[in-house]
Order: sequence, then structure tokens, then C-alpha cells
Amino acid sequence: MNTPRLTVIGTGYLGATHAICMAVLGFEVLGVDVDQAKIDRLASGEVPFFEPGLPELLAKALESGRLRFTTSFQEAAEFGDVHFICVGTPQKKGSHAADMTYVDASVTALAAHLTRKALVVGKSTVPVGTAARLTALVKELAPAGDEIELAWNPEFLREGFAVEDTMKPDRLVFGVSSAWAEEQLRAAFEPVLAQDVPVKVTDLATAELVKVAANSFLATKISYINAMAEVCEATGADVSDLAEALAYDTRIGGRFLRPGLGFGGGCLPKDIRAFMARAEELGVGQAVGFLREIDGINQRRRSRTVDLVTELAGGDVKGKKIAALGAAFKPNSDDIRDAPALDVASTLHRMGAEVTVFDPAAMDNAKRVHPELTYGENALDAAAGADVVVLLTEWTEFREIDPAAMAAVVGTTAIVDGRHALEPSEWRAAGWEYRALGRP
Ligand code: UDX
Repeated sequence: MNTPRLTVIGTGYLGATHAICMAVLGFEVLGVDVDQAKIDRLASGEVPFFEPGLPELLAKALESGRLRFTTSFQEAAEFGDVHFICVGTPQKKGSHAADMTYVDASVTALAAHLTRKALVVGKSTVPVGTAARLTALVKELAPAGDEIELAWNPEFLREGFAVEDTMKPDRLVFGVSSAWAEEQLRAAFEPVLAQDVPVKVTDLATAELVKVAANSFLATKISYINAMAEVCEATGADVSDLAEALAYDTRIGGRFLRPGLGFGGGCLPKDIRAFMARAEELGVGQAVGFLREIDGINQRRRSRTVDLVTELAGGDVKGKKIAALGAAFKPNSDDIRDAPALDVASTLHRMGAEVTVFDPAAMDNAKRVHPELTYGENALDAAAGADVVVLLTEWTEFREIDPAAMAAVVGTTAIVDGRHALEPSEWRAAGWEYRALGRP
């Protein structure tokens, strides 16, 4: 089997990781983006976002000569045998649906230059039915017409584990409409498949659905335990113990069962909303109506965390000093898209509190989007003189804070553990009023 030459269109989180890893695995790869600045940074060896292990692999890939970058779709079409579409599908303004502008634009731009047989592979998270629509579009626009095929290969990578998830994923899903397309995908993932990674070959619609179904399940699991936390709050029960006891049942399992401030980020929240919107269009909105509840439970975690901070501040946060530990939507990331942490911090600010934020990686991003907040040099600096400390992202360095050291700098020893990341007995022993949602 010939080794295909790959292009990766869209060099954001997903695309940059995919392009770099594929080059490291031995493929000739051309990364494509419309953003010249992004291309320049990558070509000079700089990863434009925080991802452990990726800068080292970028250096290795560039050094091998197998990875190059361009803004030219013509060059991409001439170079590639398999073209991966990795552009974003954010939530549309004023709607729950996915914004397909970038997918449509990149496929259109590429198709115009496709003059020989090639496979276009969608990786972006899209509403089911998109692949069928794009197939027709590509065949109509490409000079090579019916020679061009489309496939879908959803991506499940988690930020912070992107390299691991790309090099050795839990599974690969190939949505194809011909044996030739499957053969091309098998060739394009040969080194990954050689590690016994399971592959599910299916049709286009099923492949598109796997992604949203997986993310909906994960979101449901998180909101499930957070719903249990609400019940615990009303009864004096402890949701941390409850989750631990549930996790011993191997049918349930403990992953994605961590209670707290809930999910955020660039995927889970917008994916469940887009799924609801698409299901409505298809006339099966009722089938996923529960996702509205999942979203609601998740949003309520943010407002209830604000309420708990308010309670500890004596009923009103106006003029009170609040130390917000964390800004990123999860630890080991600088991503602040739909971050519960910043949502809580900015709400408290709007309510009149003086909020000082510290995050180990997301400071630049947070300052850009929330210039109204104050920022500390480190956790202790942010906590200086605080009336309430609130832990919003469970970074290891926050878990390791010495309660006595922090007690020495705050105004009042009151802490809200928004992520159930701290040991309550240690904090209470050091004189703190420790509170967490769903814990007595
Ligand atoms: C997610 C999916 O896991 C991944 O497969 C998909 O490709 C993209 O979306 P990611 O957004 O990187 O990945 O983050 P993830 O690690 O899944 O966490 C999502 C959110 O859920 C975070 O805000 C996290 O803090 C929260 N979470 C996770 C919980 O609140 N409790 C948990 O038990 C697990």
C-alpha cells in the first residue's frame, strides 16, 4: 500500500496536534490555515497554545523535514492524497446550532483545486448529515468531480492529553462510503492501527453521530453526579463519598463522575446544544430533550457556587475581596472557552466584589477576555487580604497549597472548594471554614 501524503486544514488545537503527530509518525504532512500569523508561528517551531509534549514533537517534526505549513489551498490540493478537515464548529451566535462557516469555506476552497483522485476526511464535530451534504458539494466544485470521495473520522482528543490521544487513541472511527476510502484511511493511520488500536468502520452518518453521542454521554455523567450533589445539599449527605461508592460498580465506573463546578471548554457545552438543535431539525428533538436538563444542571453549578461564596462573605459580596484560584476550564490547559471558573469570577465582579484571579497557565487568555478583573502573581498573592477564597480549577499546585501558609495571608479563613479538590479535614484543622457544594 502506498503511503499517502496528508494535508491538515485548520491548524487550531485539533489540526495542529494531528499534523504534528502524523509527521512524527512518518507521514509527509502539509498544514494549511487561512491565518498567516498562526502558520508563521507553527513553521518557526512555536505551538500557539498550551499542550504538554507538543512543542517537543513540533521541533522533531520540523527537523525531519516531513512537516510544512502553507496558506495556499492550491498547494494543498496539489500535494495531498488525503485531506483532513480540522476547522472549528463553534456555537452560532444567538442560536444553539453549530456554525458551519469554517467547514464550508475550507471544503469549498480546497475543492476548487482538486484535479486528481483524493479523499477528503472530516474530523470537525458537525451536525449529522453534514458529510452527505459536503460530498455533493465537493463533487460539484472539484475539477476531478466524482473522483473525489468524502469520509468522516471523528476526533476524541482531550486537551492536556492531546498527544497521547492522537498517537494511541481508544478507538478510531472511519465513516466511509466505499472500500477505496476505507483503504485510504487505513493507510493514513497505518502506524496507529499497528498498535492494535480498535477501528470501527461504518457509514458517514453513524461516524458523525459517534462524536456527539460520546460527548453527550460524558456531559450526562458529569451532570448526573452534580444533580446528586444538589440532593446531598438538601439532606446533609456527602456527594464525594457517594461518587466514590458508586464508582466501585464497574458498570458505572468513576471516570467523569467527579462532582463540582461542572463542565466547560470548547466541546462539551456547545456539542450538546448543537445536538439538540440538529435533533429538533430532524424531528426527534424529544429523544435528546434530556440534554436541556443536563445543560441546566451544569449552568446551575456556576450560580450555586456564586451563592456559596456570597453566603461565606456574609450575604453580600459587594466590596468584599474574593480570591479566585483558577481560570482555565480544566487543569493542564490554558483554554478559557466557556470556562466555569471565569464565569464565576466575572459574575462575582459584576455583583460588586473585588475579584483577584490566579491561574498557572491561562493568565494571558483570561486578561485578554476579562480585563475588568484583577490578577495575582501566584495563589498566595491573589489570596492576600481575601474575605473568601474560591478554588475554581483543580490544578495540582492548588491541591498542594499549605492551608496554614494561606491562612497567614488572607483576611478571613473561608474557602469554597468548587472542585472538591482539597482535603476538608486538613483545612478545617488549620482553622478554615471549608465549604463545598454537596458536602456537609
Ligand atoms: C472533551 C472530551 O473528553 C473529548 O473526548 C472531546 O474530543 C472534546 O471534549 P475536553 O474538552 O478536552 O475533552 O475536556 P474533558 O477532559 O473532557 O473535560 C470537560 C469538562 O468536564 C471540564 O470542564 C472538566 O473540568 C469537567 N469534568 C470532567 C467534570 O466536571 N467532572 C468530571 O468528572 C470530568
